[in-house]
Amino acid sequence: MTAILKASQVHKSYKMGKRTLEVLRGVDLSVQAGQFLVIVGASGSGKSTLLHILGALDRPTSGTVEFDGIRLNTLSGRRLDRFRNKTVGFVFQFYHLLNELNVLENVLVPAMASAGTLRWLAVRNRTVQRAEHLLEQVGLKERLRHKPYELSGGERQRAALARALINQPKVLLADEPTGNLDSQTGSGILEVLKALHRDGQTIVMVTHDERIAACAQRVIRLCDGKVG
Ligand SMILES: Nc1ncnc2c1ncn2[C@@H]1O[C@H](COP(=O)(O)OP(=O)(O)O)[C@@H](O)[C@H]1O
Ligand SMILES: [Mg+2]
Repeated sequence: MTAILKASQVHKSYKMGKRTLEVLRGVDLSVQAGQFLVIVGASGSGKSTLLHILGALDRPTSGTVEFDGIRLNTLSGRRLDRFRNKTVGFVFQFYHLLNELNVLENVLVPAMASAGTLRWLAVRNRTVQRAEHLLEQVGLKERLRHKPYELSGGERQRAALARALINQPKVLLADEPTGNLDSQTGSGILEVLKALHRDGQTIVMVTHDERIAACAQRVIRLCDGKVG
């Protein structure tokens, strides 16, 4: 089987004055299409750093990330924007929804960004339908016109999930999506992720929570800057 996403000898270090902080020290990993991969590691072990690098939100100090055989460091400008906007979908621990927009509008933002003004007019109706369908799938059918601050944490994360999926990303990258939620609410989010995986969605999730890792299809550990 060929990997959809592959990291080879990824290093990341930060210069802090005279010291260099080596966060990732040669990470190798591959993600197969359709897989639900969980990366578990202690707080501060570099999980967010790694996920950002996999999604081209950050660059490695050295090493390569390939998506479908294409090295991300060879992409620039519009192709890189397109990768971030369409090929991957990102879910963050703290949701990062826009408070001025309601739930439906938040979900539409990435689609509007990728379509541009003229094409948006042509695709608007079907994209709104898709957004409504996604929001129904994540259990927010009754919350379309609510603002994020009118929602619970779990509902906000569901909205953020729908937003990450609106452009039909090939890989969903989730950074501790349950990290800010109580365990019951977090379980609800996990159930949504599992259902997406059953429908074929490729998912990479990072977490510090061993209990969450226990229910994953494949778990790898990040420790001392490498995967074990
Ligand atoms: N921009 C940065 N500059 C300096 N140090 C950073 C930066 N981002 C992260 N770090 C450090 O890198 C380490 C790993 O961070 P992070 O990837 O956020 O870990 P995790 O998500 O596993 O908790 C931490 O020690 C953190 O302080
Ligand atoms: Mg983190």
